[in-house]
Amino acid sequence: MKNRRDFIKKTVGASAALCCGVSALSFLQSCTGSKYISTKVVNGEVRILKSEFVENVYLVVETDKLPYPLYLYKNEIGEYSSFLMLCTHSNCELSATSKSLICPCHGSEFSVKGEVTQGPAERDLNSFVCRQTETEIIIELKK
Ligand code: FES
Repeated sequence: MKNRRDFIKKTVGASAALCCGVSALSFLQSCTGSKYISTKVVNGEVRILKSEFVENVYLVVETDKLPYPLYLYKNEIGEYSSFLMLCTHSNCELSATSKSLICPCHGSEFSVKGEVTQGPAERDLNSFVCRQTETEIIIELKK
């Protein structure tokens, strides 16, 4: 009987430690700050080195031409998407996380795909086409 009790105690303790570890890791990953990149628009394009994504799933890209930054996201299969960080409700700059974009003005939220997930905004974010080469992501600003 004592062995069974010890086994349960150790198993529950190990499970709790594992869960806390995973939760703490998720929490820390979601709390890591945004990585900012400043770059220039050349011929209507923004080029970002893929190496900037080594420890990040998204970047906040500030340019010399756009009044608001771009959110550049890399999904789990290596595709990139980019959105203007401007709320479609009433033009406030959005805050970025690895899971969503949040408007500090009235609380709208957008997915990392730029879709409205919570109003009052009703329109998805303005998106840009992303291409990639072996080493770069190219955001096309021309529509
Ligand atoms: Fe973003 Fe109103 S401006 S929710």
